[in-house]
Amino acid sequence: MSQDGWKPVRIHGGTSERSKGASGGQFLVDLVIHSAEVKKALQGVIDAHPNLRVKDLNDSAVVQLVILELDEDPTESFSFIETVVQAVDGREVFLTSPRTDSKVLLEALRAGVKEFFPQPIQLNDVEVALGKFVTRCQQDTKDHTKKVGNILCVLGGRGGVGTTSVVVNLGLGLQIASPSKSVVLVELNQQGGDLAIFLDVQSNHSLRDIGSDLSRLDLALLTRVLSKHSSGVQILPSGYDDLSSGRLPPDSVEPILELLQSVFDHVVIDCGHVLDLPTKKALDMASKIMVISTLIVPVVHRTKKILGLLRNSGIDEKKIRVVFNRYSSEEQEVLRETEDTLKIDSSFVIPNDYVTARDSVNTGTPMIVSAPRTAIAKVFHDMVMAMGFRSQDKKEQANWMGRLRGLMNGRGSSKHAQVS
Ligand SMILES: Nc1ncnc2c1ncn2[C@@H]1O[C@H](COP(=O)(O)OP(=O)(O)OP(=O)(O)O)[C@@H](O)[C@H]1O
Ligand SMILES: [Mg+2]
Repeated sequence: MSQDGWKPVRIHGGTSERSKGASGGQFLVDLVIHSAEVKKALQGVIDAHPNLRVKDLNDSAVVQLVILELDEDPTESFSFIETVVQAVDGREVFLTSPRTDSKVLLEALRAGVKEFFPQPIQLNDVEVALGKFVTRCQQDTKDHTKKVGNILCVLGGRGGVGTTSVVVNLGLGLQIASPSKSVVLVELNQQGGDLAIFLDVQSNHSLRDIGSDLSRLDLALLTRVLSKHSSGVQILPSGYDDLSSGRLPPDSVEPILELLQSVFDHVVIDCGHVLDLPTKKALDMASKIMVISTLIVPVVHRTKKILGLLRNSGIDEKKIRVVFNRYSSEEQEVLRETEDTLKIDSSFVIPNDYVTARDSVNTGTPMIVSAPRTAIAKVFHDMVMAMGFRSQDKKEQANWMGRLRGLMNGRGSSKHAQVS
């Protein structure tokens, strides 16, 4: 594997061009509209306004207004609106739909929609609403910076070591610890395809739907390809597996992850155990890389190779963590020797607990929810806390157990339990 050209790219912090809200007094509008006729009409009104511009494919500045057409499944649109509004302070969403029943309007209001345009659209109403929007933006002196969510890559030292288990438990842990934050789990592993099964989520879409044609990549497409877990976590399964032909083009990784980062606080990636080009792109963008290993000799050998590769590739050592899974307490001495061999201290050891792990997978309920009092779940809880991503809100902190109980009560619909 060539390591040339694999250099870390700094993407967090700073005030780059892309983090500025308006450029030249113009505010950027994203049109997430299915109907060509409605889109054309809205585009015309926006083009006529000196302070507004419709986002095009090459635009990387912050979108201040999203005009969205309601999906066939309104619940998906509403959950996405909440995420989009939260992603950037001051961002607004206008909604349009042929449906005008009071239930839809109420839900739209609750989700944070500022204006609603029933179809057929009255262009005068749109002009007035856009005028008010521009005035609000001009009076707003806050510095709106684009959200740049944390990317956390979980990489297996070898296949079957527990990478997907860590991804789902950590992802749910982050969501439960900070319900006001948004979490998406992305399966970059092109050899796996287990993510949706581990969460018992029926998913009709995947990374494969967006990876092959980047010209279609926008918020609208993203809305359609994500699936929501009952915890609030969104998931994007790979859609690639050993059995299907075609691979994720490496160049598609950066734009996809950047779009996810602009909407989600935490992007947790299941990298599988193969260091291919798409994975390398994700590792470059990550703020933390968690390498999962075990104390089995071939796994340690491969983990050592992986760590060497990461170090030689210029990845900042400070963002690498090593976690040993399936650990037994009598392995203390082996653990110490392995840490010496790998030249890194383990951040966490996850106990071996076959029954809890098996039941969790078979019921599609991550251990942090299905068995919160087990030692294994406590380690995942500690991982979330150690990452410093826990909500600072005292009320949110206090409600941790309540939210867990809510999820536990809601579980158990699993089809996987029946097949086991
Ligand atoms: N701490 C643990 N104790 C016992 N069993 C575990 C533990 N962690 C994971 N397992 C089990 O090990 C198996 C493999 O786990 P998982 O699928 O998460 O690994 P993976 O590295 O993602 O595998 P793959 O390479 O196939 O994607 C699963 O059956 C899981 O339930
Ligand atoms: Mg896996």
